[in-house]
Amino acid sequence: MAYLQPDKPEKVYLPAIRAAKEKGEKLVCLTAYDYPTARIVDEAGVDIILVGDSIGNVIHGYGNTIPVTLEEICSACIAVKRATERAMVVADLPYGTYHVNADETVRNALKLMKHGGAEAIKLEGGRNRVDLVKRLVDEEIPVVAHIGLTPQSVYKMGGYRVQGRTAEQAKRLVEDAKMLEEAGAFAIVLELVPREVAEIITKEIEISTIGIGAGAECDIQVLVLHDLVGMTFGRQPRFVRKYADVTKVMTEAIQNWASDVKNGAYPNEKESYGLTEETKAELDKIRG
Ligand code: KIV
Repeated sequence: MAYLQPDKPEKVYLPAIRAAKEKGEKLVCLTAYDYPTARIVDEAGVDIILVGDSIGNVIHGYGNTIPVTLEEICSACIAVKRATERAMVVADLPYGTYHVNADETVRNALKLMKHGGAEAIKLEGGRNRVDLVKRLVDEEIPVVAHIGLTPQSVYKMGGYRVQGRTAEQAKRLVEDAKMLEEAGAFAIVLELVPREVAEIITKEIEISTIGIGAGAECDIQVLVLHDLVGMTFGRQPRFVRKYADVTKVMTEAIQNWASDVKNGAYPNEKESYGLTEETKAELDKIRG
């Protein structure tokens, strides 16, 4: 049997993430939910693409991540995987897909890997997920954990607030991170936690921290692509830096096209199809 090496040599797998942490090299992660954006993100050199359940807010307009289904993540993941050559593709397990029992969780994670093409899965929670993380890792499923603000707990938390502000909460987050590392997660998302807490966790564990609203000390930074390029609506959290205004670019393009159509400037001759001189002559004969 030959061992095929179908991927590019620089393709990002777990060892590259570990090596970056060891060398103190920062990595970057962005969300994508479709072929064109995943292709742009991958070709821009982003190391990890997260098919996040933020698809619920960003793409489906649900308002939160609770309604997102496994099928929605799986379908997005298929498109993202097709577009991606280098980045590691991580898929979120949506709310309700890892809450019933371990067997069902494994089945759902395997669906994201076998059908969706995910190379790792992410789930939310701290010490309450330790056994689940162990089980998934035992089944050869690479796991990213997610602590701090966990958006799937929005109803329990009563909103989206910074987590780990008191000494007691901060200590608990550090403990959770250590337990998840021990359970076998290869990275942990730290969402909306004070930078000092993220710094302690990043120093205390050997696996990578992936920060969002968690300061500069995290090993990897993640953002929602649509926030970064200005394609989301409403007030943005303070950690979002808008690097482009794609909404403005798209609006202008659409308005220019619509006005060209209305004043007869689109489509022009080059943008439509005509007949050959020979055919025109034939048709003239028919017309008499
Ligand atoms: O779903 C998502 O986009 C996420 C990131 C915010 C980390 O979980």
